Amino acid sequence: MKLGRGLSKIKCGLLLSDSRLMRLVFGLCFVSLCVSGTWAAPKQLRFNQQGQFKILQVADMHYADGKTTPCEDVLPSQMASCSDLNTTAFVLRLIKAEKPHLIVFTGDNIFGSDATDAGKSLDAAFAAAVNSGIRWAAVLGNHDMESTLSREGVMKHIAGMKNTLAQLNPSDAPGIDGFGNYNLEVGGVQGSILQNKSVLNLYMLDSGDYSTDPSIKGYGWIKKSQQKWFRRTSRALKGEYHREPAPQKHAAPGLAYFHIPLPEYSSFGASNFTGVKRDPISSASINSGFFDTMVRAGDVKGVFTGHDHLNDFCGKLGNVNLCYAGGFGYHAYGLTGWSRRARVVQATLGKMRNGGWGGVESIRTWKRLDDSRLSTIDVQSLWTKRRAASKF
Ligand SMILES: *[C@@H]1O[C@H](CO)[C@@H](O)[C@H](O)[C@H]1NC(C)=O
Ligand SMILES: *[C@@H]1O[C@H](CO)[C@@H](O)[C@H](O)[C@H]1NC(C)=O
Ligand SMILES: *[C@@H]1O[C@H](CO)[C@@H](O)[C@H](O)[C@H]1NC(C)=O
Repeated sequence: MKLGRGLSKIKCGLLLSDSRLMRLVFGLCFVSLCVSGTWAAPKQLRFNQQGQFKILQVADMHYADGKTTPCEDVLPSQMASCSDLNTTAFVLRLIKAEKPHLIVFTGDNIFGSDATDAGKSLDAAFAAAVNSGIRWAAVLGNHDMESTLSREGVMKHIAGMKNTLAQLNPSDAPGIDGFGNYNLEVGGVQGSILQNKSVLNLYMLDSGDYSTDPSIKGYGWIKKSQQKWFRRTSRALKGEYHREPAPQKHAAPGLAYFHIPLPEYSSFGASNFTGVKRDPISSASINSGFFDTMVRAGDVKGVFTGHDHLNDFCGKLGNVNLCYAGGFGYHAYGLTGWSRRARVVQATLGKMRNGGWGGVESIRTWKRLDDSRLSTIDVQSLWTKRRAASKF
């Protein structure tokens, strides 16, 4: 069952930091997860009995030392009482209001250069999610490794935390670039015909920090090795979805989460996106081709990034929605008087002719503001099955 598997995963994670015994215990845990059988063993996420799955995206918390770390870009009158703890308070309010099934943190979780101890900052930044008991995942941004831990060290720390589904990297892609590339599968409703299939696929990727090529300036990008892993994973998931029992005609929709926006985020004018564009699009200065890779794979319907705190829009390019979450953290640049915010995505299953739950029928999104009413804004449909059905 869900709970049992969750617990064994947590134990594995906690034990990781210890001695050599670890490798043995971890190995045993791993074997027991594999032997337990169904597709979802180590990644147990599933649609609820109402046919819904809701993801809360938190971008750019920029957490540092907690109470002693001041806020940026709040009203002068608010400065004295404002710190990282306001960021935590916002996470808690959102969890209470939205009751998400998964929380995804899309990088710059900590603002490394102001964090005295990276491990402590990470623990504090994710504490609200950990204590909520809700499963959560995270990827890295370009500031997470600027404190006392390397990029690899930060991702290892995160992957060892309680209730997280974050992984250092996929076991089937040795040598993949970056840290924190992994996929999560969301199963159909327990007891439904699709209970053993992933009906919604989440791809988590490390979009890097800065270019390591001296001839290319600026931010990092999703490398060839990562795109290769993505293609292979997408193909394998499609194969599973099409296979007996209960073979499906189309691909299950996918959503991709990472930190740095793709160059294609620049494709929109004010007439064709929903939300706000107040920052330039700070993508890498080269195009690594990941957008085209996703278009060719065909399953990804939405891409969700952070990085540009004053952009919170969603625009549709072809069949793929390119979305920002907007800045979340109080120790991150913002715009005075413009509320910190977060993005929610909700996928809803369709009913089959016999009344049982089928695959995903629609995906919607909205944002929540950290104002007194926790306002919901920009509710929009990202995808519905009917419209896209002929594509596959
Ligand atoms: C930060 O939290 C304090 C304590 O709850 C509160 O008084 C203050 O208004 C918050 N500041 C902002 C900018 O939300
Ligand atoms: C799902 O897998 C379980 C365990 O292997 C099996 O008992 C059940 O019949 C399967 N259900 C469907 C609908 O495929
Ligand atoms: C959005 O609208 C602008 C004009 O405002 C146009 O140049 C651009 O091609 C459009 N982009 C998309 C993706 O439809």
